[in-house]
Amino acid sequence: MTRVLITSALPYINGVKHLGNLVGSMLPADVYARFARSMGHDVLAICATDEHGTPAELAALEAGQDVATYCAEQHAIQKRLGDGFHLGWDYFGRSSSPQNRELTQAFARALWKNGHLEVRTTKQVYSNAEKRFLPDRYVIGTCPHCGYDRARGDQCENCTRVLDPTDLVNPRSALSGSTDIEIRDSAHLFLKQSQFVPRLRQWIDSHRSEWPHLVYSIANKWLEEGLHDRGITRDLSWGVPVPDDIGDGKLKGKVFYVWFDAPIEYIGATKEWADANNKGEQWRDWWQGKDVRYIEFLGKDNVPFHTVGFPVTIMGADEGWKLVDQIKGFNWLNYYGGKFSTSQKRGIFMDAALDLLPADYWRYYLMANAPESADASFTWEHFASVVNKDLADVLGNFVNRITKFCAARFEGRVPGEGAYGDEEKALIAELDRRVAELRNFFEAMEFRKALAELRAIWVAGNEYLTRAAPWTHIRTDRARAAVAVRMGLNLVHTFAHLSWPVIPATAVKIHETIQPVAGGGRAVPFPTDPMAKELDQLEGGQPIRASDVLFAKIADEQVAEWKARFGGD
Ligand code: MF3
Ligand code: ZN
Repeated sequence: MTRVLITSALPYINGVKHLGNLVGSMLPADVYARFARSMGHDVLAICATDEHGTPAELAALEAGQDVATYCAEQHAIQKRLGDGFHLGWDYFGRSSSPQNRELTQAFARALWKNGHLEVRTTKQVYSNAEKRFLPDRYVIGTCPHCGYDRARGDQCENCTRVLDPTDLVNPRSALSGSTDIEIRDSAHLFLKQSQFVPRLRQWIDSHRSEWPHLVYSIANKWLEEGLHDRGITRDLSWGVPVPDDIGDGKLKGKVFYVWFDAPIEYIGATKEWADANNKGEQWRDWWQGKDVRYIEFLGKDNVPFHTVGFPVTIMGADEGWKLVDQIKGFNWLNYYGGKFSTSQKRGIFMDAALDLLPADYWRYYLMANAPESADASFTWEHFASVVNKDLADVLGNFVNRITKFCAARFEGRVPGEGAYGDEEKALIAELDRRVAELRNFFEAMEFRKALAELRAIWVAGNEYLTRAAPWTHIRTDRARAAVAVRMGLNLVHTFAHLSWPVIPATAVKIHETIQPVAGGGRAVPFPTDPMAKELDQLEGGQPIRASDVLFAKIADEQVAEWKARFGGD
């Protein structure tokens, strides 16, 4: 048993997340966490809302609430939606927690003590129209690298390069569009990242073969372009305050930059978990102890912050905090070829999705089409066809027809008569191979391949049942029909085991047609026995329950209605 620490990029607090956000970090993190638990590993899965920074301030302003109230409300909403999608975090914390404040300040103190920080007077963009400093991302202009004309002052979303607002050509306020902006002096803390280049290079290269190409190449490109020292404080009121003992008294009233405190909240939320569950110092052991494998899930825009920003914080503090082992990065999920957009409310958001259909429909579709090696695109037509074929026809129908047939013709009990023959042995051999593949794909976090394999396993079950045709043999050869039904019910049971990481609620329902889930359902174990044993474990005479329809088909009219409602094309 290994200890596995899993974090998902922290969703911003400013509003409900869309399906692109969900499939780019939180959902695959949950699927992997469930898989690791189902393999018997000791797993800690952590997420939190990312609550600081100007987006939160502005969203609160727009909602007519003070920022603390706004964040508390939005956190509760995101928590409820995460539960609705069965995201089984051990803890869903808040970056504005006292735990994170303390840890962020402690990290800054360590960096200060180790000489990695210095106070510099910087030129900040001040908007006369708004009478406030403008944070980097609220200055927009043309990217000096790629020419994109709506690049933000912190990062160009077109070419993903990290920027400084003064790099922008034709800068203006993103709040008002005003070009009546000026540059003022302001003292800030700088993290001397450039000193860390050799250590980062060595660390990043040591993971070259382990990390996905997407992640390594972004990290490498970033390092090759040369690292600039990074300002880690801001002229804002909402954030973790810079403590008085740092910065020679020149930083009164300033707060840490949201990208400084947000990743520290991975640790902060772990402490929140420990505090809420009487786990004492266990949080520390997850982050400083031995034998923990740490895996991060995140979208490609987050790669620089997780391969350079956060690692520099950890290396510089030099207190034995764990660096990440594996980073699973994702491309974008598009909506009809364009972007999902929070600001433009384009696409499908987590609350609307759950109003339409149960979580497992979305979970399966999104993971089967995860933007892993390239961007992917959501369309209602594709969604409906995947749900109808894979979930309704292949999985749902299988469970339904075999459990119903058993109820009708075998008094709802597993038939014990007859022995497995050549058909069954061939199926067992095929599934030995396929289940091993499935496990490998899950272990490698190759989700599209894993789900294709899972589907192939369901298909193999269907094909077996079509060949074995108990509904035909029952009239002439009851023992032969019994063997097929017994194998069919064993398959139902195994499908529940294999599907649980992806569609947990349905998997439990499927499992319960056969028998209750052992251990209260914290995890449905992934089969480790050979299939000859796994598929021959139900007792003759054991009662089963006929299943209801597991997945309703999506009708063409629904597709048309949803397209009209959410926009498409
Ligand atoms: N809120 C950021 C985003 O959605 C992710 C923060 S991840 C962490 O892009 F590292 F800061 F935690
Ligand atoms: Zn650019």
